[in-house]
Amino acid sequence: MALFRSISSPEALPPVNGDGVVLKTPQMSDYAQWAQLREASRDFLTPWEPTWPADDLTRASFRQRMRRYAEDMRTDQAYPFFMFRKEDNTLIGALALANVRRGVAQAASLGYWAGAPHARRGYMTAAVRALLPVAFDLLRLHRVEAACIPTNVASVRLLERTGFHREGYARAYLCINGMWQDHLLYARLRTDPKP
Ligand SMILES: CC(C)(COP(=O)(O)OP(=O)(O)OC[C@H]1O[C@@H](n2cnc3c(N)ncnc32)[C@H](O)[C@@H]1OP(=O)(O)O)[C@@H](O)C(=O)NCCC(=O)NCCS
Repeated sequence: MALFRSISSPEALPPVNGDGVVLKTPQMSDYAQWAQLREASRDFLTPWEPTWPADDLTRASFRQRMRRYAEDMRTDQAYPFFMFRKEDNTLIGALALANVRRGVAQAASLGYWAGAPHARRGYMTAAVRALLPVAFDLLRLHRVEAACIPTNVASVRLLERTGFHREGYARAYLCINGMWQDHLLYARLRTDPKP
């Protein structure tokens, strides 16, 4: 596990600094802010995400989420981050490198969301720019992939301005908002020049 060779323990995953944002490993103490932001952003987020389970915003479900995140990091499966606004430490969104594939692939999938009150202010651009060096230098990945629904203009713009290349089109690729939906496939390689 590359990460564990690079830093002393998985719990020590350091905060990642970006322009106006800090990315931190999610903690149980983030629950209140997270649940409030997700509830306030429900209508904004649900068209673009897997269907939320009925109990998704409960403390018990969040506790399970924290357990899963810890296990995912311990086993080098995924690296989740909450995104905080630097000036006041407000939780404004989240992103993750998930589905880590080692061996001959050395790849992971990037996912992200911004809270509705904080969207379109450049925060996720800053967060993705800050996370890519973690993916390539700390986790030693060769490739970061991302996929989005063609009508998701914000996501397409985000990926293109952070240097992802459009590589393909996958039919009925992911079940989003209860429907199997076509996706554009993007990737950034460790060797790609910075945009
Ligand atoms: C996609 C998302 C994470 C982008 O986060 P963000 O912090 O708003 O992104 P940024 O402010 O850094 O903007 C990135 C680019 O998208 C553009 N953009 C953002 N929202 C937009 C919108 N509603 N319509 C058109 N363009 C938009 C920005 O203008 C910027 O491009 P530009 O520099 O060429 O103008 C956010 O819109 C979101 O959470 N959407 C709902 C959930 C979602 O789509 N998740 C991803 C599924 S693949």
